[in-house]
Amino acid sequence: MTIKPLIILPDPLLREISRPVETVDAALLKLADDMLETMYDAPGIGLAAVQIGVPRRLLVIDVAREDEPKSPQVFINPQIVKSSDERSVYEEGCLSIPDYYAEVERPATVTVKHIGRDGKEHLIEADGLLATCLQHEIDHLNGVLFIDYISRLKREMVIRKFTKASKGKAV
Ligand code: NI
Repeated sequence: MTIKPLIILPDPLLREISRPVETVDAALLKLADDMLETMYDAPGIGLAAVQIGVPRRLLVIDVAREDEPKSPQVFINPQIVKSSDERSVYEEGCLSIPDYYAEVERPATVTVKHIGRDGKEHLIEADGLLATCLQHEIDHLNGVLFIDYISRLKREMVIRKFTKASKGKAV
């Protein structure tokens, strides 16, 4: 397993729509393992492939608490097929927008159809942190970031800050 460099705001790749995965083969599972390694190292609870520069519809999640055993989950071509009317609010962050957090309101429960590491189709109903994390990561596959849900003023401030920082690094 290899830790990969993370793509950071304002990298335009973060706004790209990821392409579906066509085959679940050894190369894809290796990519998923590298993503898990990168996520645990960061540390984070979710990562989309595009965040390591691979715009494919693949994400990894582990919402286990620190005192619980690791519980890595791989979602290939995930699709939200049902969302609850009930909503919940979580403070979100993103490995591509380091050290910035904001409260985001989303459906409290989602049903997600996806292909697992076994290459088979699965359906899960998620609530709590897993529901929020799945929605955040699936957004990445569609070029959407959690800062798109905050006020325009706040969003522009964050983008400006990261644009300035990236220019600083390029010099
Ligand atoms: Ni993110």
